Amino acid sequence: MKYIITVGVILCLLLITSCEKGVDSPRGFSLPQGNAELGKQVFIKYQCNGCHQLDDIAQPEDAEFAIKLGGKKTKVKTYAELLTSVINPSHKFARGYPLAEIQQDGKSKMKVFNDVMTVSELINLVTFIQPHYELLPYKTTNYQYYSYR
Ligand code: HEC
Repeated sequence: MKYIITVGVILCLLLITSCEKGVDSPRGFSLPQGNAELGKQVFIKYQCNGCHQLDDIAQPEDAEFAIKLGGKKTKVKTYAELLTSVINPSHKFARGYPLAEIQQDGKSKMKVFNDVMTVSELINLVTFIQPHYELLPYKTTNYQYYSYR
């Protein structure tokens, strides 16, 4: 019995550490600080409110969806997940909605903006949305220690 538990613990540890250090892990991921006010404008420019509820931003009458952004009941738990849900929406699906409604053939019905949105817009957008989630903290680049080579 003891043996089984020890092996179990080792396997778990291996799994956890290998995930963290794997090339696919979000470890070391960091974007510069964005501007939330500009991010709000990005949200409106790309009509995210055509499918999402956020703050007091009104939804149009013909809104396709009313998927709430922010709050606790969501799969978005980290900064990396928030970014991923914008640039790769099919990676995970929002909780609390019938799958048949929000996806088709395994793909999210969310519009992908990767070919039109600039990186600066994305950074500002995520900075605007972030405070609406209780996300695990992430480290932005500390320019004090930033060295140019
Ligand atoms: C055409 C409709 C549509 C538009 C436009 C749209 N989305 Fe979405 N979005 C969805 C759907 C449907 C989901 C749920 C499926 C999923 O999680 O991919 C979703 C999910 C999300 C999630 C994850 C929510 C969660 O709780 O897991 C975020 C964050 C998000 N969208 C942000 C945005 C932002 C930011 C924009 C504007 C740049 C945007 N969306 C534009 C339809 C849309």
